Amino acid sequence: MTPRSLILAVESSCDETAIAVVEDGSRILANVVASQVAMHAASGGIVPEVAARAHLRWIVPVFDEAWAAAGATWDDISAVAVTEGPGLAGSLLVGINFAKTLAYVHGKPLVPINHLEGHLYAAWLADETREVAEPIFPLVALIVSGGHTFLVEMRDHLQYRLLGETVDDAAGEAFDKVGRLLGLPYPGGPAIMAAAAEATRHDVVFPRAWLGDTFDFSFSGLKTAARRTIATETDGHGTAIGESALTADRVAELADGFQESVVDVLVTKALRAARQIGAKSVVLGGGVAANRVLRDRLAAGARGAGIPLVVPRPALCTDNGAMIGAAGARRWAAGSRAGLDLDARPSLPLARR
Ligand code: KG4
Ligand code: ZN
Repeated sequence: MTPRSLILAVESSCDETAIAVVEDGSRILANVVASQVAMHAASGGIVPEVAARAHLRWIVPVFDEAWAAAGATWDDISAVAVTEGPGLAGSLLVGINFAKTLAYVHGKPLVPINHLEGHLYAAWLADETREVAEPIFPLVALIVSGGHTFLVEMRDHLQYRLLGETVDDAAGEAFDKVGRLLGLPYPGGPAIMAAAAEATRHDVVFPRAWLGDTFDFSFSGLKTAARRTIATETDGHGTAIGESALTADRVAELADGFQESVVDVLVTKALRAARQIGAKSVVLGGGVAANRVLRDRLAAGARGAGIPLVVPRPALCTDNGAMIGAAGARRWAAGSRAGLDLDARPSLPLARR
């Protein structure tokens, strides 16, 4: 158990401005997320400069709403936790400077958090609807987001051994790119999931990159295969958002074939890793973990192997402040502190092999 704590957490690494107040690393008192998705949909992707300006515009209103919802006083707050990386430098700096200001003005310790550790610790946020209360060590965690895809082994809190990672695109990035090729709106992940759910035929089969018996992933070959198929079927005509040269039925079938390929590889490798290390639980996290087919397939496989799966509800899989508060409580208890010279670390890794 961590000592009793109330953590104010700030997350601004990509395109969500998010602030939360979390008690003891698990109970969410407030969790406010301002998403820039609608704004970036117009450009079909994130423009870093635009994202940073939007964080600046929204961070104070997001804080005000979270603070009012939490019903806490500054005397109750143990520390201010903030994402230091990985992410977009300009976006990270907005959250970091805001968190520094709060920590300085209120005399609180500043705790730097790795965004990927946040995705992992989302599994420790309280959820009464789950079979198991919290992850059990040793565990295997599969983190799949827009920028990262990796498998880690954890034998204790804050201890990671990298089992494998993507050698090219992240799974979410592949969803986003293929979504664009199919003429679906940004971000591609939820759009592909929705389109695939409409598929009545399931006979599109895209390749799977197994990379031997490693726990590494590769999605660029799949993306190229999808691009070739789409180009052939549209006679080389490009697809603009909402204006695909493909019929809606065909978009659904291709989305289904693509999603199946990604999910198959992710689930197979995660379960093999879990068996190999003798895991007592499997954790799934990151934005792509909001995918219903991935969640269901991994849950079924884990059940078959007799290993409980812990996956946060979808809103806690995509970027949010509560996950930074969950990791923040552990890091605070372990004595992690940053000075007011804390800088953004855009390429910060979670773990090495
Ligand atoms: O973790 P996240 O919110 O931000 C990063 O840290 O990158 O992940 C965003 C990624 C995007 O690529 C998005 O398309 C994907 O997660 N995503 C999904 C779903 N919801 C979000 N991918 C597949 N199915 C979904 N339902
Ligand atoms: Zn993320």
